[in-house]
Amino acid sequence: MSDTILQLKDICYAYDDHIALRYINLEIRKGETIILEGANGSGKSTLLKLINGLVFANEGSYLFEGREISEESLKNNKFAKWFHQKIGFVFQNSDVQLFCSNVEEEIAFGPLQMGLEEEQIKQRVDDVIRLLDIDKLRDRAPYHLSGGEKKKVAIACILSMNPEILVLDEPLAGLDRPTQEWLIAFLLKLKKAGKTMIIATHNEELAEHLADRHIFFNEEHEAEELQVFYHTHRHCHVLHPKSEEEEMLVEEGIEHHTHTKEELSGDL
Ligand SMILES: Nc1ncnc2c1ncn2[C@@H]1O[C@H](COP(=O)(O)OP(=O)(O)OP(=O)(O)O)[C@@H](O)[C@H]1O
Ligand SMILES: [Mg+2]
Repeated sequence: MSDTILQLKDICYAYDDHIALRYINLEIRKGETIILEGANGSGKSTLLKLINGLVFANEGSYLFEGREISEESLKNNKFAKWFHQKIGFVFQNSDVQLFCSNVEEEIAFGPLQMGLEEEQIKQRVDDVIRLLDIDKLRDRAPYHLSGGEKKKVAIACILSMNPEILVLDEPLAGLDRPTQEWLIAFLLKLKKAGKTMIIATHNEELAEHLADRHIFFNEEHEAEELQVFYHTHRHCHVLHPKSEEEEMLVEEGIEHHTHTKEELSGDL
């Protein structure tokens, strides 16, 4: 049996007449971590929205576990529920996904919508609170939290639904250095547990630690897969499928200590 989870074929998308995605082809297998890279405005967030069924292709097809995802197919409530439980989206801006009056309710919201029993909901809430180490935020109002705290709560909300695929848009944006390192280690732990992840990021360290595959968006809103080999944390080789092999400097802070993959996994 194929372990393909999702398949995009010749996807094109435009906001009115403004093209954002041009003939995107992508097949993602269970357990892979895909990193989306590319300039501002190249189409990464749009692709993530499309993968989550928030926008729909003008051309091309999107299959999730072999089933077509379209505006039409998601009108079927049972199908939409099935699909939305399979895929969890952590937005770049946590404010758009937090709306309850306290953190505990916020995390319980998804499992409640899924129709789980009270006892199971309580269990899930407690589990993710422990996993993300946010017990002290339990009774706080989400809209009063700091950016980093909101991000942790947003991730907890998504994980409480135990999605098959985790989609994250710029998860490190706006986080301080220790919180970034914590989140990279946390995502690495999810990857090792076999979670499938699709992450848009400008952060090379995150890409280096997490990526199984790199998808690069160019300014024409086309995507192509790159083979990237890291030698050190600040120096890597990019093997372009269509051009010569070229050296690329990865910009990073120089002074701070960068964890190796081994150190990160040791932390877990
Ligand atoms: N709601 C919208 N209405 C109109 N155009 C949009 C909308 N959202 C995005 N766009 C346009 O679509 C293109 C792709 O935007 P997108 O947000 O997907 O880029 P991105 O790769 O995520 O960029 P960034 O790195 O800045 O997050 C851009 O040209 C952008 O201006
Ligand atoms: Mg974006």
